[in-house]
Amino acid sequence: MAIQWFPGHMNVTKKAITERMKDIDVVIELLDARLPGSSANPMLAELTGNRRKLKVLNKQDLADPVRTEAWLAWYNAQPDTRAIALDASDTAPAQRLIKACRELAPNRGGMDKPLRVLICGIPNVGKSTLMNTLVGKKAAKTGDEAGVTRIEQRINLASDFYLFDTPGMLWPKITVERSGYHLAASGAVGRNAYDEEEVALELLSRLKGPYPELLAARYKLDDASAIPCMHDDELLELIARKRGAVMSGGRVNLTKASEIVLNDFRSAILGRITLESPEEFEVWWTEGVALEVERQRKKAARLQKKKKGPTTAAPDHNNDQDDEA
Ligand code: G4P
Repeated sequence: MAIQWFPGHMNVTKKAITERMKDIDVVIELLDARLPGSSANPMLAELTGNRRKLKVLNKQDLADPVRTEAWLAWYNAQPDTRAIALDASDTAPAQRLIKACRELAPNRGGMDKPLRVLICGIPNVGKSTLMNTLVGKKAAKTGDEAGVTRIEQRINLASDFYLFDTPGMLWPKITVERSGYHLAASGAVGRNAYDEEEVALELLSRLKGPYPELLAARYKLDDASAIPCMHDDELLELIARKRGAVMSGGRVNLTKASEIVLNDFRSAILGRITLESPEEFEVWWTEGVALEVERQRKKAARLQKKKKGPTTAAPDHNNDQDDEA
């Protein structure tokens, strides 16, 4: 079952960003370097129009450096776009952000034309941490759960460089089904929205191809070369046994094993991992959009039918909530 998460703050955020956008020159989008495509907000392009964009691949310390390079190259090849990688160990990120933004908007600068930058990011990409580093102090946070919004603030990173924070930016729906699992695995989706075992199995299915050695090393599995061919259930069960997640009677505790796998991924105990490449994500995105178009077409046809009069067709409630976010 696909993960669908509807935090419900979207309209307020959308309005706030649209309003703020009038006076913005550059938009910084903070992404999780472990899942750059999935942690991008699909709505941002629509809201920010033709503004210059700086993509910040944050938490690079957790991501696969080879794949981070590939994502940077991919973004840097796009028009009016620059990309940099960052992590919380960088204690002075301001200079890198300022430099990249100035390159994107060389016509702005000086007291009469300050560079105005908006920073956006879905929950959990590390925006508060970065803002705190930029401000140079521990700013109060209103909550620690994904989906909590904060009050907008402005930071002057230089006398002619204004950085505006936005209320938590959330996606209206997950267009790519796989993105839901990647976001859940990363910890960006509220805990109530998914089943841990399902997400752990999806995660293992993503990891066993490119990262069998990391799995073998962490869980003391004898033959790394056999891992890519294993069934996900079989792999999870093996991990459960290796980690002692066994109940009385010898049955494996898959819930416990799933928690172990998810925690090991989130904390990078497994190693530095990136769940998607730009090329993969592009394919998933095209498929996701096509499915979405088809769904909208079906919905429009259903509504049209309804308008015409009573129908015997069974109502389809499956995706109606998508349009309410
Ligand atoms: P948000 O505002 O975008 O929602 O994210 P926030 O800064 O709250 O960061 C979410 C989690 O990610 C926090 O961990 C934070 O410490 C961690 N984090 C932020 N930036 C980085 C980074 O560059 N590298 C790594 N490895 N982690 C980062 P937490 O466990 O939720 O909280 P805590 O451990 O800080 O208490």
